[in-house]
Parts: sequence; C-alpha cells; structure tokens
Amino acid sequence: MPRIKVRAPAKINLALHVTGQRDDGYHLLDSLVVFAPVHDVLYLVTPANGLSLTVEGPEAAGVPADMSNLALRAAQGLTDAVAVSLEKNLPSAAGVGGGSADAAAVIRALMLCDPAFDGLEPRARETAMMARLAQAKGLEALGADVPMCLPNVPQRVRGIGEDSEVVGLPPVPAVLVNPRVPVSTPKVFKAMTKRDNPGLPDLPKLPDAAALIDYLHGTRNDMQEAAIALEPAIAEVLEAIGAQPGCGLARMSGSGATCFGLFADETKAQAAAEALHKAHPDWWIAGGVLGSQFNLGLPEVS
Ligand code: C5P
Repeated sequence: MPRIKVRAPAKINLALHVTGQRDDGYHLLDSLVVFAPVHDVLYLVTPANGLSLTVEGPEAAGVPADMSNLALRAAQGLTDAVAVSLEKNLPSAAGVGGGSADAAAVIRALMLCDPAFDGLEPRARETAMMARLAQAKGLEALGADVPMCLPNVPQRVRGIGEDSEVVGLPPVPAVLVNPRVPVSTPKVFKAMTKRDNPGLPDLPKLPDAAALIDYLHGTRNDMQEAAIALEPAIAEVLEAIGAQPGCGLARMSGSGATCFGLFADETKAQAAAEALHKAHPDWWIAGGVLGSQFNLGLPEVS
C-alpha cells in the first residue's frame, strides 16, 4: 500500500493589518504571509478501512484525534478511506496556523497523489486540484486560514483570509519563539479596540532581507496589543527577541502567542535561537529562513 508523506509548514504573518469587520463578525485582513522550514509531518495510507487519525510527536499533548481535528475534517471532504498519522511539531493555538496547515497538507497529499492527475503539468494539476476542491464537501467550513496554507509560498492575503495573491519576497532568516501559552483567536479579535485600520502600504520590489525588514517597519500586527493585554508573556518574548544582536524586527504572528525575530544575517539568527533557548529552556524555539523552500509542502509517495 503506498504511503504518502507530506509536511505542514508553520505559517507566519510578517504583517497583519485588521482593516474592518463583516456583518457576520469575521474580520477583514490585509496580511503578508510566509512559511517556515519548521513543520508538522503527516503520513497517509489510502485506501484504508474508514477514516482514522493518530497524533504523536513533541507537541501532541492535548491535540484531538477525533473529527474535531481539522486534518480529519479535511480528509472527510475528499475520501472516506484514509489512515492519517500526524507528527505534531508545531505548538497549537499559537498563531502559526498549525491545524490549518495540517488540513491543507492532507488536501495536498490526497489531491496531488491522485493517479487521475498523473502526467499533468504543475499548472494544470493545480487547476484540476482547485476544481476538485470547489466540489468537495465541507472544506469551506475548515476555517479562514486553510486556503493560504495550500500553496506554501509567500502571499498577500485579504478578505477574511481566503483572497490570496502570490507575491515575490526575498527569503529572510528568522527565529520563532512561543512562550507555551495557548491563545484563543476569537478572544483576541474580541479584545481589539480598533478594527478599521489602514491596509498594507504598496509592496515595492524588495531585493533582499534587509529591504524586506525596512518595508515591514511601515507595517504592523494589529492583533498584537490585544494579545499582549490577554497574555503578558508575549511582551516578554518580544523584548527577549528584540534584544538579540542583529535583530531587525520583532513581532507577533497571527493572534499569537508565537513571535518572530527577523535578521539580515543568517548566522546572527542562528545565534539568537541558541541564546534564547539557553535563557528560556521552557519556551518553544525554532530557527530558519522564512519563505525559502517552495517545495517544502509537496507530498512524497513511498
Ligand atoms: O476561521 P477560523 O475558524 O480559524 O477562525 C476562528 C475564529 O476567529 C472565527 O470563528 C472568528 O471568530 C475569528 N476570525 C475572525 N476573522 C477572521 C478569521 C477568524 O473574526 N478573518
């Protein structure tokens, strides 16, 4: 039986502007999204006897293995015969899209490894995949972050998260830090005091990481203040990251609590990850170059 291995990379919001609110309560966003080379790993065996999910790995504690798990709900929209095994390396309720990335990875695995798509050019395969997705049942209910996690490429995301445009961004060395406090996205949205902020400034051509960091200084994460009010540990994380030599920008991703530091110099980013790990062994810390590995999320069949 073929086994499909697929990675679910962490999603990082380099900038996240909240520009309004719809009548149904959902918030309108304008966000720059990239993916990090730190990821969950999913193994799928299909066909299988019904739908099943097992969860293991360093961040598995508290992750449900029933139909409330987005990975299983994504599978259910496409097939009723797959066994999924999830290696959870990303913290949950952390602002890095964990559950949505897992759901998107399941969709990529089931779609891209479908023999019906064999022999198609990548572009045609993507079109066929999107057409199948449009017909699949219940996938729109998986959440606003799933569509942006389908292609693991830099994007500018608008609407409530579903309206995404691929953009060219230079890779940027980074450190990611989570203080191990889960954060509820709806609670942070609710705690915000201003929801009609301006969108992102026009994206110029950015030749390198230093130019990207410069551009990002003119942007924000509009959820950061509200998240800090709910979880003061986020302010401590931002301060610790910002104090690292060579750190050009420290900011929260999504609704938190994961924060990132950006560096023009990869060696300094690695040194920062090591120093932070030494000073805070209880924090979740990862290092790597954001937006550099475009094929990180492609499924492999063995
Ligand atoms: O889409 P998802 O289920 O991940 O979002 C969780 C909750 O966060 C939503 O139920 C909604 O309350 C809030 N949300 C929002 N605006 C968005 C995305 C999420 O208000 N664009």
